[in-house]
Amino acid sequence: MKDSNFLKEHNAKSLWHPMAHPADSLANPPAIITSAQGVKITDIDGHEAVDAVGGLWNVNLGFSCQPVKDAIAAQLDVLPYYSTFRGTTNDQVIQLAEELRKFFAPDGLTRAFFTSGGSDSVETALRLARQYHKIRGEEGRTKLLSLKKGYHGTHMGGASVNGNANFRTQYEPLLPGCFHIPAPYTYRNPFNESDPERLAQLCLQALEDEIAFQGAATVAAFIMEPILGAGGVIPPHPSFMPGVREICSRHGILLIADEVITAFGRTGSWSGSRHWGVQPDLMATAKAITNGYFPFGAVMIADHMTETFEKDTTGKAAIGHGYTYSGHPVGAAAALACLAETRRLNVPENASARGTQIHQGLLALQQKYDLIGDVRGGHGLMCALELVSDRTTKAAVDKKTIGKLQEVAYEAGAMVRVSGPNIILSPPLVLSEAEAETILSALDKGFAAVS
Ligand SMILES: Cc1ncc(COP(=O)(O)O)c(C=O)c1O
Repeated sequence: MKDSNFLKEHNAKSLWHPMAHPADSLANPPAIITSAQGVKITDIDGHEAVDAVGGLWNVNLGFSCQPVKDAIAAQLDVLPYYSTFRGTTNDQVIQLAEELRKFFAPDGLTRAFFTSGGSDSVETALRLARQYHKIRGEEGRTKLLSLKKGYHGTHMGGASVNGNANFRTQYEPLLPGCFHIPAPYTYRNPFNESDPERLAQLCLQALEDEIAFQGAATVAAFIMEPILGAGGVIPPHPSFMPGVREICSRHGILLIADEVITAFGRTGSWSGSRHWGVQPDLMATAKAITNGYFPFGAVMIADHMTETFEKDTTGKAAIGHGYTYSGHPVGAAAALACLAETRRLNVPENASARGTQIHQGLLALQQKYDLIGDVRGGHGLMCALELVSDRTTKAAVDKKTIGKLQEVAYEAGAMVRVSGPNIILSPPLVLSEAEAETILSALDKGFAAVS
């Protein structure tokens, strides 16, 4: 490795960082992380911190998951790549599909389509949804509905169903035929409704209204995250996703669960859909499927959809979609090991316990610091704090304050993620009680420094 002076001098000089302004990356160079063990990362200066970001919602089993590392290394030796395009496959991907079928059987999902990550999975799900209707002779069903505040990756289709302006505006025009429904976000919503159950009903009514306005026979799918993540961790009322399921079924609209962050235990359940007792028609997964160690994803397809594709005799079900790295043998080997380890450790149990601990700790911090306008969480290890400069007007806090808070928290031992006015926490699911306390006390120090 080059020496640390070289790395610091060249930091952000010859690369543009995702989700960052290039000028900002130059003015405030990103932390250079050089190693990690357990749930802790170490930077170039040797400073160690609990990673409350969990890589990027993906390193669910921490950074020292030896079975996944071993599986990757072993597979690289045997078969480092082969395509799964028509005519060839590989041993790992066949086994993985069988394992996923067992894993997602309670969600009613029995087929997998492999991808290289979350955005690819979303794109795949949107395309398969449209194709499903075309095979069935409902060619007019092409529109896509989604939630404001939802995040569905950054491909053109995903960005089009995305519900946050900052991922859309500079890239418009996006796909036509995409429409957005208000999110069940109690802290801010167009109905001025703070009761979660009533708000869920209002959002469901808005969905019904939009479907009536568009014409159900023009709508292909509704896509949602079971718990909205990147938009600021927004858990809906338990009645919301079942309500969406019922409306979609009644109108022949497919329900796509975007579980890129919620699948494999994060919510305290094995999938976010299962958390709410819902069976989606398609599920987009990625991230924790390989513990973040290899870029990989899978779209899971409902059993009831399979006949349409598998028994088609018109040729319309031929899948004209796929990626060079779909079903990559190294990714598949990593996912197989990761699934086994995820099950062995029963991660939803710890996610639930540590999630409650952190959520309670954040509520206590809210009593202490006026800057905390809203605390969201309570469903596994995904929590957010929304910061405001004034609790009455709910005016967002300035960038400098939140930046300083993050810096002090990092110095005090926890890497937290800042996204707009939110601090988002998504640590590895193997976090210990003491490590959860470290995150809370680091945040306490951060808030003390800016209050
Ligand atoms: C819900 C959701 N969908 C899709 C994506 C996109 O995944 P990727 O960044 O792997 O393309 C993300 C990424 O955070 C996500 O949170």
